[in-house]
Amino acid sequence: MSHSEQWITLTKKAMSKAYVPYSHFQVGAVIETETGNIFSGCNVENASYPEGTCAEAGAIAAMVMGGDTLIKQIYVMGKGEQLVTPCGGCRQRIREFSSSETLIHICSPEGVRKTLTMNELLPYSFGPDNLK
Ligand code: THU
Repeated sequence: MSHSEQWITLTKKAMSKAYVPYSHFQVGAVIETETGNIFSGCNVENASYPEGTCAEAGAIAAMVMGGDTLIKQIYVMGKGEQLVTPCGGCRQRIREFSSSETLIHICSPEGVRKTLTMNELLPYSFGPDNLK
């Protein structure tokens, strides 16, 4: 199994955990940190629709809880014809823990469909440096 296939398998596993009784749209996210740790997340919805959380937010919360704050790469996976790119809010969430090297891999269950840098995903972003 290639390196990339292992990440796809892991992200598929995260996606399969999604709690999505309302949208029925499963999303999984897996982060590899610069320190080599791995954290997963899935989207978790609830009856008050806007209060659901995205897969990326779950993975980021797990990462911070695990003591890491720098993302080397993040795999985001969903099904369907369109690329499942992180929503606007999640672009900012990922941005907080990114460097110019951070890669965002947009995946389907079959594999990586597109790889973007943070700057491509969220150009002219507002980040921690703006507050210095
Ligand atoms: N969703 C994510 O988990 N990540 C994204 O980047 C896009 C959207 C979720 C939120 C909601 O549970 C479902 O997908 C449909 O919008």
